[in-house]
Amino acid sequence: MSFIEPKKKVIEGDTVLLYISINNMHSIKVTPNIVNKNGETIEYTHQTTFGAVKVKSLIGHEYGTKVQLTKGYAYILQMNTDLWTLNLPHRTQILYTPDISMILMQLEINPSSVVIEAGTGSGSLSHYFLRAISSKGHLYTFDFHENRVIQAREEFHEHGYEKFVTVQQRDVCANGFTEELNGKADAVFLDLPAPYKAIEYVTKALKSTGGRFCSFSPCIEQVQHTCLELEKHGFLEIQTIEILQSEHIVKEKHIPIIDLSFVKTKRDENEEKVIKNNEKKPQLPTRKILTTLNTPIQPGHTGYLTFATFLKV
Ligand SMILES: C[S@@+](CC[C@H](N)C(=O)[O-])C[C@H]1O[C@@H](n2cnc3c(N)ncnc32)[C@H](O)[C@@H]1O
Repeated sequence: MSFIEPKKKVIEGDTVLLYISINNMHSIKVTPNIVNKNGETIEYTHQTTFGAVKVKSLIGHEYGTKVQLTKGYAYILQMNTDLWTLNLPHRTQILYTPDISMILMQLEINPSSVVIEAGTGSGSLSHYFLRAISSKGHLYTFDFHENRVIQAREEFHEHGYEKFVTVQQRDVCANGFTEELNGKADAVFLDLPAPYKAIEYVTKALKSTGGRFCSFSPCIEQVQHTCLELEKHGFLEIQTIEILQSEHIVKEKHIPIIDLSFVKTKRDENEEKVIKNNEKKPQLPTRKILTTLNTPIQPGHTGYLTFATFLKV
């Protein structure tokens, strides 16, 4: 199902999002039947924490409407790049939007960009490159794992991006990128265990006017090797950053007003008597203040992003 065009109604074959809450979403391929573990074709019933839904019953629903589950309800939404990243089938570790948004900005991706990516992995980042370039640009994406290449190709095709992407099986550290790409790329992105082994091929692939480079690495030792290689090959503006997300919640809170007068008044004595009699504390007066809190769980380290510019002289 195309991610590019908005759709009105669910038809058979669509990949839809069943949205229960921000932490409870399900990606479903709308097919009436599925094959079970015993090889038998059975009616496809999807289970959620709010009960089940017969997938066939989703056909004909308008996107954005409520659907009944056996113990609750959900909304049926059209899949897009952001929802796909949150719900895609994981074949590898993937990149998420905080890192991805920085990558797109720093690589100066625009609708006519020619981008090279390795490895494709689960295609999370590839979908964002495709969303940004799918009018005049092209994405060449490489992975040495055969099944990942086949599955990514199928997904790009299903999501309407086939015209804008070429997926190839290749070990880019051993063999570089394909020759026809020499001098063609505006930007190269690497998410590989040993990106430093591919830097000399990056210099060949970037346009004669030069271009931008980015590498994502979880470990600082990978970053160190990569930066040394970038320097050796004449890259400029080498910069490594880490994106750490921090969410803040603005809230109004009631705080007790502290009484600092230690002098007991007639009223205090009376109140003490009331406490003794009723074994109940008096309600302290409170004041409303506007405050900001951190969320209890903050996302931590994902990886380091190393950016650089290459100019051919
Ligand atoms: C962490 S995954 C990439 C995830 C991807 N960025 C995403 O957002 O879904 C790394 C991928 O690099 C591939 N890979 C590792 N070494 C490679 C090499 N030398 N050449 C091509 N692909 C390679 C692996 O097979 C794996 O699929």
